[in-house]
Amino acid sequence: MTAMLSSRHLMTMDDVTADDIALILDTAESFAEVNERRIKKLPTLRGRTVINLFLEPSTRTRMSFEIAAKRLSADGVNFTASSSATVKGESLRDTAATLAAMSCDLVIVRHKYAGAPQIIAEMMDCSVVNGGDGVHEHPTQALLDLYTMRQNLGHLEGLTVGIVGDIAHSRVAGSLVPALRKVGATPIIIAPPTLLPARPDILGAEVAYDFDQVLPRLDVAYMLRIQMERFDEAGFPSLREYARLYGMNMKRLSAAKPELVIMHPGPMNRGVEISSDVADHARSLVLGQVESGVAVRMAVMYLLLGGADSGAAA
Ligand code: NCD
Repeated sequence: MTAMLSSRHLMTMDDVTADDIALILDTAESFAEVNERRIKKLPTLRGRTVINLFLEPSTRTRMSFEIAAKRLSADGVNFTASSSATVKGESLRDTAATLAAMSCDLVIVRHKYAGAPQIIAEMMDCSVVNGGDGVHEHPTQALLDLYTMRQNLGHLEGLTVGIVGDIAHSRVAGSLVPALRKVGATPIIIAPPTLLPARPDILGAEVAYDFDQVLPRLDVAYMLRIQMERFDEAGFPSLREYARLYGMNMKRLSAAKPELVIMHPGPMNRGVEISSDVADHARSLVLGQVESGVAVRMAVMYLLLGGADSGAAA
């Protein structure tokens, strides 16, 4: 079987077609089964080198990629550093050149600047996966979110997904909106005007300011973290006010469709965008998302590195 993606990189959702998405989700499904075994390891990427280049703080995404690489028997190397104002432009190029000299097969990049994975890809001869670049995109998060929705709701086409909150700072929304559109689902952006990007229409989704008004239409309420670290204090009256108008709580859960599921990319601000009882509710898929993350990242790595034709499968 030759299973390949149409692009050798995964930097934005533009790199994948609807067919690629279906292939990634189906492949992830077979890897999810491996993750339930006692011995959670396949020899598939034996001898391949994967570098985790994480220049911005991350716990779950970095760990998820690390575990995914290990489960496929790749040699994983972690390069973690906190990004400073000087880590950009030339110095990023130097980092890439250094990594290139070590001949690796795949680099996962997280960086506070949008476009950093592109710079790395230009300098290196290997595949690059964007593990989150600034406020731009986070494609593996969107893919694991689609996987989680499909697992729990049975299908993707026709779903209406409300993406609620801090859209302006959200690379998760930057990938999830186009991802949903590619699979025939309908994203609705729900946020106060102050938390929207300057041109919300460029995201290509319906925009709503009143959460309660659109709530009954939703199959999924995808709650975004209020990203305090990216704020310059403007446009945010109070967290309590935000929670009242845009937070998911038990009252809203009971006003929604009975099948509504709640998602959040983590880390959660409990009591702000999501109340604690909803976060731990049976209809919250938050831990399922983390679980799916490993299988989906295994699938992405496997398919980018040539799938069954990688020469390492034997
Ligand atoms: C997201 C991120 O880092 O962009 N988290 C994640 O990858 N699990 C969202 C967030 O930080 O709010």
